[in-house]
Amino acid sequence: MSSVASELRDQPKTWTKGEYLVSTDSSLIPIATLNAWYAREELYWTKPLPELAMRETLQNSLCFGLYHKSSPNQNQPENDDSLEFVGFARCITDYTTFLFLTDVFVLPSLQGLGLGTWLITCVQEVVKSMPYLRRSMLLTGDWKRSVPFYKKIMDMELMVCNPPVEGKEAVGFAVMQRKSFGAPGFVGEP
Ligand SMILES: CC(C)(COP(=O)(O)OP(=O)(O)OC[C@H]1O[C@@H](n2cnc3c(N)ncnc32)[C@H](O)[C@@H]1OP(=O)(O)O)[C@@H](O)C(=O)NCCC(=O)NCCS
Repeated sequence: MSSVASELRDQPKTWTKGEYLVSTDSSLIPIATLNAWYAREELYWTKPLPELAMRETLQNSLCFGLYHKSSPNQNQPENDDSLEFVGFARCITDYTTFLFLTDVFVLPSLQGLGLGTWLITCVQEVVKSMPYLRRSMLLTGDWKRSVPFYKKIMDMELMVCNPPVEGKEAVGFAVMQRKSFGAPGFVGEP
């Protein structure tokens, strides 16, 4: 009997909408293209990785690639050449208890068409299929657009960190972080 975790890891899931495909098969992802995206200004939280590091990152993540199909024939088996890589979302997860969503991107020429919403709806379908998940999380610096976007699609709530005021106990969770070498612009000690 296979678990939800091993099914997600071993059997790629796909969704189709007209000429577009979402797949969790990370072997379809063109690494050089993704690395070029990581260098873009819009992905302000990341920077390109050496090829081996990128390959291992993708293998160890639950990746959602968004593709444009140049041959929308449903009966034709997908091959790498017929798929243009146009969007991405990456979940860092143990496939059971925790999932962190990051690196969400749709090519600017295709933004505003509902593809980003569809991509994250696919992510949320998988999130909802994890029976032992304790928490899905993400970080964003874009309060205006991203907070309502993830609230609507993933039913996420803000983890507001209220530091202790006038000697009272703090309320809510404390989100903690320390940036390191992989963060753009990081200068510091190991
Ligand atoms: C966020 C993003 C993936 C949305 O993709 P998309 O295909 O344009 O999404 P849709 O067409 O389904 O919907 C657009 C919605 O995304 C919202 N949105 C969320 N974050 C956004 C962002 N950073 N930039 C632009 N739109 C964003 C828009 O407000 C819009 O909401 P509306 O439908 O209520 O007007 C895309 O804008 C993108 O790649 N942005 C750059 C990278 C980025 O900021 N990623 C998210 C970081 S948390």
